[in-house]
Formats: sequence, structure tokens, C-alpha cells
Amino acid sequence: MGFDRDEFVSECLSTVRAGDHLGEAAGQLLDRAISDPNSIEAEIGDRTIVPSMIAWHRSDELTILHMVWPPGVELFAHDHNMWAAVGVYGGREDNQFYDLRPDGRIEPSTGKTLSRGDTTNLGIDVVHSVSNPTREWSGAIHVYGGDYFAVPRMMWRGDTLDPAPLDSALIGQAIEQAAASARTLSERNPEV
Ligand SMILES: [Fe+2]
Repeated sequence: MGFDRDEFVSECLSTVRAGDHLGEAAGQLLDRAISDPNSIEAEIGDRTIVPSMIAWHRSDELTILHMVWPPGVELFAHDHNMWAAVGVYGGREDNQFYDLRPDGRIEPSTGKTLSRGDTTNLGIDVVHSVSNPTREWSGAIHVYGGDYFAVPRMMWRGDTLDPAPLDSALIGQAIEQAAASARTLSERNPEV
């Protein structure tokens, strides 16, 4: 059976309302969906040359986002303050994880590349930056254990990696700039 967006949302909601190990359980649902990326593309359609962040669901208990990011995008480090499960059905999302120091700054630690068909679970205290270093637009489903847009969050950017309140407009700008560059590159080199 193919991927059904509404069914996926309702399964995630039921799982979260059922109780324990919410992130792990949602991750398993995402694993199942992402294991068949063709069926997700059949339901959602092709990734376009326009970035998007569409909320399939938003509530206090759960946010489910459909993300389409341009080639070359680099999003600075941020936290979520809630568990998350990320699944990539096209392109790539490269994660750089960070350790939080006592002074509030961060230090790079491990990394994880997610390509087509890969998922990962992120703990509540994860700090990461994400990039798409490929020439292909990435497509992903992100599931968060809370209201992604309402919970106070932090970001780290610049040489010092000092913390600051998250400015979602800056993230939007980074995505739009990368999208514009990708479109220009594609116009100049249509075969790329
Ligand atoms: Fe994130």
C-alpha cells in the first residue's frame, strides 16, 4: 500500500497519544514511510525549484513538516527543545551535531548524513546544523514532539558560536538565498 499523508498524520497522532517512547514510536512510523520513497513522491509530487515548509499538522503535542530545501543550503546551528524524527525521501540532509558547553557556546561533535530512504531520531536536547551539499533539491518529513513554532528555541551562528534566541526569518533568508543561487546555476547550466 502506498503512502497516504492523512493516514500518516493520524497514525503519528495516535502513537503520541498512546503514551511512552513517543519519539521512538514516531520514528518507527517514519522509518516505514521513508523506506518507500517512491510512494511518498507519488503522493506528494515532484520536488520543485521552490523551497517549502508545509505543516501537515501543528498542535501542542505534535508538528509534522514537509520540507523541500535547495541545493547548497546551510542552516546554522539550532535546538528544538523537543524530540524529533527526520526522514529524507529525496536528496540529502547532512547533520552536524554539537555539544553544549557550560558557557552556552557549542562545539562540533559527530555528524550524520541522511540520504534518500534514511531516517534518524533526535533527542530533546540535540543541537544541530543542517546542510544540503548536493546539486539536488532535498525532500524530507520532519516530525516534532511539540509545537515547533511556539516553543522558545536558540540558535548559534558566527565565529564564536554564541547563543541567541532563534530568528526564524534568518533561516528563511538562508533558504531563499540558496534557492536563488540554485535557480541561477540551473539557468546557466541547464544540463547540471
Ligand atoms: Fe533542526
